[in-house]
Amino acid sequence: MTARRPAHVLANAPFRRLWLAMSVCSLGDWLNIVALTALAGNLARPGDFRAQSLAVGGVFVAKMLPAILLGPLAGAFADRFDRRLCMVVADLSRFALVISIAAVVWLAPNDVAYRWIIAATLLVECVNLFWVPAKDATVPNLVPKERLEQANQLNLLVTYGTAPLAAALFAALSVVVDLLGGRPWLSGCLALVVNAGAFLVSAALIFTLKGIPRRNGAISTPSVVKQIVEGWRFVGGNRLVRGLVIGMLGAFAAGGAVIGVARIYVTALRGGDAAYGVMFGAVFVGMAAGMFFGLRLLRGLSRRRLFGLAITVAGLVLIAIALIHDLVFVVMLTVLLGACAGIAWIIGYTLIGLEVEDAIRGRTFAFLQSTARVVLLFVVAVANPVAALFGSHMVRAGAFSYTFDGSNLVLVIGGVLAAVVGVLGLWHMDDRKGVPLTADLLAAVRGESFTPEPPEEVPGLFIAFEGGEGSGKTTQSRMIAIWLRDQGYDVVQTREPGATKAGMRLRAILLDAAEKGLSARAEALMYAADRAEHVEKVIRPALHRGSVVVSDRYVDSSLAYQGAGRALDPEDVSKVNAWATGGLVPHLTVLIDTPPEVGLRRLGGAADRIESEPLEFHERVRKEFRALAAASPDRYLVVDGTLAQEEITRLIQDRIREILPDPVPREAEDITGTMPAIRE
Ligand code: TMP
Repeated sequence: MTARRPAHVLANAPFRRLWLAMSVCSLGDWLNIVALTALAGNLARPGDFRAQSLAVGGVFVAKMLPAILLGPLAGAFADRFDRRLCMVVADLSRFALVISIAAVVWLAPNDVAYRWIIAATLLVECVNLFWVPAKDATVPNLVPKERLEQANQLNLLVTYGTAPLAAALFAALSVVVDLLGGRPWLSGCLALVVNAGAFLVSAALIFTLKGIPRRNGAISTPSVVKQIVEGWRFVGGNRLVRGLVIGMLGAFAAGGAVIGVARIYVTALRGGDAAYGVMFGAVFVGMAAGMFFGLRLLRGLSRRRLFGLAITVAGLVLIAIALIHDLVFVVMLTVLLGACAGIAWIIGYTLIGLEVEDAIRGRTFAFLQSTARVVLLFVVAVANPVAALFGSHMVRAGAFSYTFDGSNLVLVIGGVLAAVVGVLGLWHMDDRKGVPLTADLLAAVRGESFTPEPPEEVPGLFIAFEGGEGSGKTTQSRMIAIWLRDQGYDVVQTREPGATKAGMRLRAILLDAAEKGLSARAEALMYAADRAEHVEKVIRPALHRGSVVVSDRYVDSSLAYQGAGRALDPEDVSKVNAWATGGLVPHLTVLIDTPPEVGLRRLGGAADRIESEPLEFHERVRKEFRALAAASPDRYLVVDGTLAQEEITRLIQDRIREILPDPVPREAEDITGTMPAIRE
């Protein structure tokens, strides 16, 4: 049987075309930022540190101000126009404006050229405010609902993924111009021509794009200020989320500080435009690496600790960047800084996703993005004037001289702030109080972690079902067992606790409502004892026979109920269970995620000892289940338990199909006479 995979969103031709247009535009946008800031630095009086800082700062402000002031207004306008036409006209206008900048820089005196850079940039950004909402509104028209998330991920990929590409392109252009002995501003002009060309390509792609409906209801973009004020109301009340948000913004600001002063710092280090391009790219390469590897890094270390640590290290690296005046070191440290910021961002995002209720998660992320934009604007806007105000100072001691200028000062301030935020985060959000950080870190480096062992090599397949009370997992595990049997698999359907003789007696004690005073540790050990018996007598033999084992609950239930619910140390619960099961981990765990108030309402009859726990207990259990799933997404399927029963079954079947081995046909079994991988 071959796994049936749904078509990738890029198989959809109209979306592919739009995505291509987006990629080209993103590349153009980034090229635009690098080229304009480089040009601003070149046009200012050479050697005048203050003038250069202010010139570069002005470009950043012009780039970001329109979105913050006029964003929602333009969004509402964009809804009134034909979207395709709106995007094409916007692309052509951007093309004309950007080309005009290149022409003016080429022909006009420096001060006129700079003024036009600022004016045209403001105009380009205003035009962007029409293009972006029209594009955002078009995506759902081209892509089916279940593929939207994939489409959004692809959008995010090109939005940030093109930054290092643009930086590399700019650096290459600068090297070529240098080699040919061109004027210093020539590389900026050439980059702008490429940038303008990108908008032209995008216009052509979108013009020939069929299938964009003229209008499809209004999309309303709430104002940035409103998003922030409202968002803080949700976020401010939760201590953990508050800490995470502050930490993430700190990490963002650290990256912003480097971008903000990179142009003048590179000049001070005697680097040219090429070096600036490399440094700009280094931040993004680092960030991408951090985001990609961040969640996999040091798996044994608590995520909250890694979060605080990443921000603290980012701060220290920033200080080092400020003080070590060597271009090569600075670029290497910038990659490291980007990586720390990326790690902090991705961990923060994931933890907030787990912490915040479904209903307000969208608003929380919108809040985060709006605040990040404002913080970035603030940092780049303030960084350059502060640098200019401080000026450049040289310390001499005999033959030794050391220059400390405004850009260094900004980086040191940013670094100290980030380090303080990081240490405060480590302190306030620590979930491993009492365990020294260094000991934890060393253990994580040595690989002593909760990381599940790689799945044991057995011919069979082990699927566990998990979920809170009344989540429907028992029904679903039965349906799935029936479905698998219908397809010719040998299925062992089982449950915890109580699948063995000894287990049944343990179950009676564990769930007896009269057993009031049972201690948390005794409870955890009894569940583990039931599990040890279950694995040895039922699960492992079945897997070695080649059967598909479908178990209603497994180790995660103990981590969630005893670890989070009864507040036992998760590491202890994990260790006891690893010992009890001999490290046997399911190939797939299906988590049916149901809000406890819904699940508990579904239960009939008298509540058992665990069902009668208060709602907060069940909420902790749910949160832990979700955290476990988020930590190893490859081994989990999380299904919304409030969906219709048939829909849930279908989603589970789709996922199981991907990992099922082929059932061995009866004839083959007869001919070979050997034990098949999965038997009838
Ligand atoms: P169930 O038959 O409804 O799944 O009942 C099992 C109960 O035992 C349920 O309330 C969850 C609880 N439980 C634990 O607390 N820890 C465990 O390890 C397992 C397997 C179940």
